[in-house]
Amino acid sequence: MSDPLDAAEATPRRGFLKSLATLAIVGTAVLSPFAAGLAFFLDPLLKRREPFRGAENGFLYVANVSQLPASGEPVHFALRADRVDAWNIFRNRTIGSVYLRLMGPGIVLALNDICPHLGCKIELKPADKTFLCPCHGAHFKLDGEQITHIAPRSMDTLLVDVRKDGGVWVKYQEFEGGKTQKVEL
Ligand code: FES
Repeated sequence: MSDPLDAAEATPRRGFLKSLATLAIVGTAVLSPFAAGLAFFLDPLLKRREPFRGAENGFLYVANVSQLPASGEPVHFALRADRVDAWNIFRNRTIGSVYLRLMGPGIVLALNDICPHLGCKIELKPADKTFLCPCHGAHFKLDGEQITHIAPRSMDTLLVDVRKDGGVWVKYQEFEGGKTQKVEL
């Protein structure tokens, strides 16, 4: 025969467990969208690249070669183009940024400044002539090659077209992070 004292104790305990389970279900339902939104906000690579227009065969004007030091020191440039969505055109918006280096007469190296690890912006460290990602410390040489192996690949190079008038045009592309190979977004 069961002890009436045990039964009296078990009822509120069962009720408490039921409430806890309900709270967990409701909490998960309410918080999941926020968690997904937070992940999207915190990880830039979860954001798909928005379409832009104004490129000539995919190339955007970035700078004139005369703006690049003969020493080969990288210079950071924003790329601007018109952003488009289903209803609107947003004129002359920054769509990304690159480092350009003059490697020789008429030869320019373009490196995307997005870290191939998890998408933070890579910074130039002129004092030690390297690039450094502030998020997790990925470190790269000035030609983009990895020094540390925190990121799965070196910095992403971009196609460059140096025109007769000295205009430096870059084919702006973004690639998935966390992969050893470049996979365009
Ligand atoms: S995002 Fe650059 S090191 Fe992690």
